[in-house]
Amino acid sequence: MSLLSKINKTKIAFEKAVKSIDSIKHSDVEQLKNQYLSRKGEIALLFSELGLVEPPDRPKIGKLLNELKSDVEKQIDVLLGLSTSPKSIDDNIDFTLPGYEFPFGSLHPITQTMREVKRIFQSIGFSSAYGPEIDDDYHNFEALNISKHHPARDMQDTFYITENHVLRTHTSNTQIHVMEKSDPPIRVICPGRVFRNEAISIRSYCLFHQVEGLYINKDVSLAEMKGTIEYFCNQFFGKNVKSRFRPSFFPFTEPSAEVDISCIMCAGKGCSMCKHTGWLEILGCGMVDPTVLNNVGYDSEKWSGYAWGIGIERLAILKYGIDDIRLFFNGDIRFLRQFP
Ligand code: DAH
Repeated sequence: MSLLSKINKTKIAFEKAVKSIDSIKHSDVEQLKNQYLSRKGEIALLFSELGLVEPPDRPKIGKLLNELKSDVEKQIDVLLGLSTSPKSIDDNIDFTLPGYEFPFGSLHPITQTMREVKRIFQSIGFSSAYGPEIDDDYHNFEALNISKHHPARDMQDTFYITENHVLRTHTSNTQIHVMEKSDPPIRVICPGRVFRNEAISIRSYCLFHQVEGLYINKDVSLAEMKGTIEYFCNQFFGKNVKSRFRPSFFPFTEPSAEVDISCIMCAGKGCSMCKHTGWLEILGCGMVDPTVLNNVGYDSEKWSGYAWGIGIERLAILKYGIDDIRLFFNGDIRFLRQFP
């Protein structure tokens, strides 16, 4: 092997050694210094071979060898802390460069929708109340005028914990708890999770969220209920959205209604989202049935009120154009990142 090749090989081996040693350890650096720079070290050995090089090549090879030696000396000095490298880390940092960007998490679309609904009702004086997710038959059904044989109690719809306890099937149970604890007038919303023993599909899941509303006062009119709910629809979906109240039935309200809004996709012209009806159903509501008021000890001659229940997933599905309710629950980061 020519001396030139040996110089190059030594250079590479030294660089590699510098990278692999633990430079904090003084003894390791001393050992490296010894290996390359001592009287019988690798570089001295190369110098001893210089005499064998053809005379015309000697100045060139000698120069390379000197360069190698001084480079090794400099690096060893840096490792020993005797001098600072011209390429030390500090010199290479440009403090004016923008820093690394750390990804921010975001609120789940259901949390965002829930907060928006709460914000709207809070702005017109509704406070929030929270009820139990596991409740007894009385608060989830009986007190709400849902009789023993009502289909809503069917084993297929309700998760029974014991014979007398259920995972609440709606947030309406909280109406009862609130009225039992406080005297009228009442103006609350009751957000929370509800559970239904339904087959899981793109349209239904065993768990979802509702916001219940309850207003109790003297001489409350249906017109007030309409006003409140229309206000909510316009705040949530926009000024141009129209709402309509369709007669319906709930055991705990009389009269009862379901509320539709004009389709936000086609503005009521008819499209696949509204199944060509021009309308989208968004909530159930009604005037609180006197039986319910009496059940909680209110004088139904004196007090009246209205209530509603909104499905939060339903609102989010419509607002964001989501086609599968299960996306809210499977934690897929590709889905969740779309709601910054
Ligand atoms: N509890 C009903 C449900 O889960 C929703 C509902 C309808 C709540 C009418 C109400 C109401 O308070 O007045 O389907």
